[in-house]
Amino acid sequence: MDWDEYALTYPQIDDEEAVPPVLHRHMSERTGSALDVGCGDGVLLSVLHDAHGTGWNLTGFEVSQQRATAARLRGHQVVVQESGTVPLEPASFDLVISTHVIEHAPDDRAYARELCRMVRPGGFVYVETPVKLAGAWYFRRNPQAGWVLDPTHVREYRSPAAVNAVLMSAGLDVVDEDLTQIRFPLAAAELLCRRILKMPRPPAAQRPVGIRATQVPIPRYRQQAVLAQRVA
Ligand SMILES: C[S@@+](CC[C@H](N)C(=O)[O-])C[C@H]1O[C@@H](n2cnc3c(N)ncnc32)[C@H](O)[C@@H]1O
Repeated sequence: MDWDEYALTYPQIDDEEAVPPVLHRHMSERTGSALDVGCGDGVLLSVLHDAHGTGWNLTGFEVSQQRATAARLRGHQVVVQESGTVPLEPASFDLVISTHVIEHAPDDRAYARELCRMVRPGGFVYVETPVKLAGAWYFRRNPQAGWVLDPTHVREYRSPAAVNAVLMSAGLDVVDEDLTQIRFPLAAAELLCRRILKMPRPPAAQRPVGIRATQVPIPRYRQQAVLAQRVA
């Protein structure tokens, strides 16, 4: 997978408006250092900075220079390593965050071990990933995973327990979790059409409010949010 090409094909939509509840609960009760692995354009880092920036020192990690540049333009500190191995001191973070990356990882158990390696013993890992319940369908497709939300997904987990099992295999204990409906933002469809028609992407403020605000539920697709603690 060429992650810079992916960054150009799938621009990140500015739809993260609040800290996800499981993460918010955890960060509100503590202070420390947090690493966002696969931080993309830094949208979540910005939301975390606004909500928890006084108590938390935030760093991003990316495999894509394109994404890292976009996140730095938002003011974040981001380290890059194309191999996916985080080039920082192991066990040096109180919290490691990874949203919508594990479903792209060729070896998800190795990816979970990398998240666990970066968090201190007793520290926490927060992961979000889609869960495709029985009967779920979306119009994209690839040879490895069949019908999928995003053709670059190597897999989509079929249950929350399947996600938790991968984290537990890396030496993490699940301490909090949440399953919510996945919604498709109409803004994503609009941006995709503009790309296909080679029309320029308007600044977020100029996009029609209805398109920015409208979210359509995708039947039987859920998002699993998990907070897990490094055992030793
Ligand atoms: C679907 S995007 C998710 C971005 C962001 N975390 C979010 O939730 O919107 C996946 C991101 O993970 C990055 N990525 C892919 N494999 C990675 C890895 N092994 N380690 C770190 N980042 C990775 C990609 O470059 C991309 O920015």
